[in-house]
Amino acid sequence: MVPRCPGDSSIAFLSEGYLFGRRRFDRWNSDVFACRLGGRRTIVLRGQDAARWFYEEPRLSRVGAMPTSVVHSLQDEGSVQALSGAEHRARKSLFLRTFGHEGRLSLAERFSQHWDQAAEAWNQGSIMLLDEVSAVLTRATLDWLGIAVTPDQEAERTRELQAMIDGAGSFGPRNWRGRTLRRRTEAWAAAVIEQRRALGAASNGAPIDVIAGWEDAPGQPLPVDVAAVELLNALRPVVAIARFVVFAALALARWPEWRARVLTEPSARAAFAAEVRRSAPFFPVVAGRPTEVLNWNGVRFTPRERVLLDLFATNRHPGEWPDADRFDPARFIGGDSARRIVAQGGGDSARRIVAQGAGDMVDGHRCPGEPSTETILELAVTKLASGDWLFVEGMPSVDLRRIPADPGVRPVRVHWKG
Ligand code: HEM
Repeated sequence: MVPRCPGDSSIAFLSEGYLFGRRRFDRWNSDVFACRLGGRRTIVLRGQDAARWFYEEPRLSRVGAMPTSVVHSLQDEGSVQALSGAEHRARKSLFLRTFGHEGRLSLAERFSQHWDQAAEAWNQGSIMLLDEVSAVLTRATLDWLGIAVTPDQEAERTRELQAMIDGAGSFGPRNWRGRTLRRRTEAWAAAVIEQRRALGAASNGAPIDVIAGWEDAPGQPLPVDVAAVELLNALRPVVAIARFVVFAALALARWPEWRARVLTEPSARAAFAAEVRRSAPFFPVVAGRPTEVLNWNGVRFTPRERVLLDLFATNRHPGEWPDADRFDPARFIGGDSARRIVAQGGGDSARRIVAQGAGDMVDGHRCPGEPSTETILELAVTKLASGDWLFVEGMPSVDLRRIPADPGVRPVRVHWKG
């Protein structure tokens, strides 16, 4: 029997945020429960088994699974997230290619350079870390993509991208603002694509030219609006890494004993970054829609239902992560095989983190930016650990009712002294 919430849970979901699923899984001691969200019967799942099924079941479609407000903030018709099967695989290779080994290293190098330049100005006083890191990431990504912009355009893009990320989990004004700005950014991205195509630069090798010239099949260039959306899919999520960076700063401030370790032990640096990705409240859930009657562990799903995989609750599953609510990078260092180190390319434990999806990166919807996120976050952790800074107005707390959780909410101010 699947436990079921009484009535419609939409208000509870909006008011409890990340804890909505977590509380109900724990209350019923179950990895599955049913509820009604927005009038639609929804089955919510957590855990590694559920994650594997969710990402490997081809009859679980993404189309029509998310509310339109969320879809229009983050994805679009025809973009990689909305595709499946062979079409998805063809488009996904665009991201696997641009964010592959070389792309990842050169993006990380740009990030490092731009951080160091920006940090010189940070020394002059207090800063809002989330805004500053978002600006550094926007600059680094535009530079890496091969797109030249003026400082004003860069500031505008940073603002728009931040608003899209911030508006994704909300309804009402915050979401509308994100969507309005998204239209502006899309118009800019479409102009960039057209410009690159007009230059005939498709073979020059810069990531922007790979995107502008991409063909899912020979002789089938992407429509300009689709290429523009994929450009945003390569730009916006990199800027989203800023949230992980600020969560890392919070963790370093709370557990200062890790500062020295991340500077001297590469395995501790990777473990610290992994623990930030496991524990930080970010993407709360992913949604799917069965295209036919499906079955997982005796639970039946029909096409009228929505399936939610709770990423937050999976990353803190009490049976899968010992002392799951404790921030403990050591869980990724040494020990038995279940606690294998994540450094040097990611071990079993790293793959169990579902912050950026689960399953296979090539064939499934797992995030193609996960290795880049790991590398950039590790770099940022090193820079944060070696700098001399403090939260000016005391240790901030994170409101788990707000989606996405805002680590930059005042008074997260940093006084950079080093
Ligand atoms: C270099 C940075 C990143 C890039 C280029 C990137 C890009 C993408 C793309 C293109 C997809 C769609 C994959 C597909 O449908 O096959 C995706 C999926 C995903 N990304 Fe990222 N991303 C990055 C960083 C992040 C960050 C920081 C998060 C934060 C948690 C994140 C969370 C996710 C999640 C949860 C999915 C799975 C969505 C689903 O299952 O439908 N990504 N990413």
